Amino acid sequence: MKTSRPDLRPDPRRAALERLLGRGGSSVSGLSQRDAAFALRLRREVVVWRARLDRALARFLRQPPGSLDRRTLEVLRLGAVQILVLGTPAHAAVSETVGLAGNPGARKLVNAVLRRLSAEGEEDDLPLHVRWSHPEELVRRWIGRRGSEETERLLRWNNEPPPLGGFAFGPPPDGEPGLYLEDYRILRRGTPLPPPGVFLQDEAAAVVARAFRAVPGGTALEVCAAPGGKTAHQGGCLTVCMDSSVGRMRRWLENRERFRWNFALPLVGDGRFPPLRGGFDKVFLDVPCTNTGVLRRRPGARWAWSLEALMRVSKLQGELLERASRLVAPGGVVFYSTCSLEPEENRERVRSFEAAHPEFDRFPLKVPPQLEREGMMVSEPPDSGVDGMFAAAWRRRG
Ligand SMILES: C[S@@+](CC[C@H](N)C(=O)[O-])C[C@H]1O[C@@H](n2cnc3c(N)ncnc32)[C@H](O)[C@@H]1O
Repeated sequence: MKTSRPDLRPDPRRAALERLLGRGGSSVSGLSQRDAAFALRLRREVVVWRARLDRALARFLRQPPGSLDRRTLEVLRLGAVQILVLGTPAHAAVSETVGLAGNPGARKLVNAVLRRLSAEGEEDDLPLHVRWSHPEELVRRWIGRRGSEETERLLRWNNEPPPLGGFAFGPPPDGEPGLYLEDYRILRRGTPLPPPGVFLQDEAAAVVARAFRAVPGGTALEVCAAPGGKTAHQGGCLTVCMDSSVGRMRRWLENRERFRWNFALPLVGDGRFPPLRGGFDKVFLDVPCTNTGVLRRRPGARWAWSLEALMRVSKLQGELLERASRLVAPGGVVFYSTCSLEPEENRERVRSFEAAHPEFDRFPLKVPPQLEREGMMVSEPPDSGVDGMFAAAWRRRG
């Protein structure tokens, strides 16, 4: 009679879950392509759905989720996201997850909570911000501006994994064309990453970068240039690229090497105190912002949202624009862009700059007509079909 031996091979899904909890490093290298994809998807979904998961878990806990130890909370969220969002069969989600908890007490708690969650589910009638897992204050602002229905469309869009696309600086890679630019391609699923010679980015970012390239001039300055997503589209004029972050400029340098940007010179510096005398034909300012236009690509950015953060970054943007405008030669153009949907960072910035600077006239951007508003670029998802971005430019009178 044959005796069956226990299967001692490590369970690959369990290994993927372990990686997410950072045991032995949180990278997914070494996992099969399928398990790495599973781990990355889970990592994304846990961040995206955090508020909804915590609300669902809280019903079965005696203490608020935030007061649990970090590992137990992470394990509970990993189980809950599989049950509530990914539709993993409850027994698999519970049994794979329980063993990840740190000690017998935590395992017992995780087991009990996940079993009740899978049996009893979530509350009905969750408020919009919980149902779609966004900060309440942000959702309230959006409802005030666009109404509940439109806000819900945006929240849904933010939670869906975005397509991966980019440009090849050579023949376009395989894939579907984009919505606005002929040479943009949405890559097929399973394309090995990074695809050689392709700069991965959303099409909206490329539209902004091309609009800057279309501004005439022989000398350019990019402030807030790293890691070079906009630099990648420049050329044909000497371009100084400055950023205050050494780490991000290191990535810019790697990209320069990879894409051979022989027109571009790197500089580390604070745009509020640039070590430059000015006189540039065109200056591009791609400011740090609240990222509310790109939450589907940077899901964690929603949890950094607060009114105070908006006010802080908005003040910085104003200072950077003020300084950048002084680096432009007479007849030259200053170009401002954000990946935010908030008026304080976009239209209100335009209003205050124009009120303070009668020596500048609005410079109409060359962008696809669907994204053009009064000479500016306005991409508002989900209607635009691409990330949320804003850009405006002004020419200094000669
Ligand atoms: C929106 S990102 C720029 C993205 C870049 N243009 C691209 O397309 O790859 C904003 C950048 O501003 C930089 N930054 C933040 N504060 C700055 C400052 N005071 N001066 C210069 N750069 C700053 C950040 O390091 C960050 O790289």
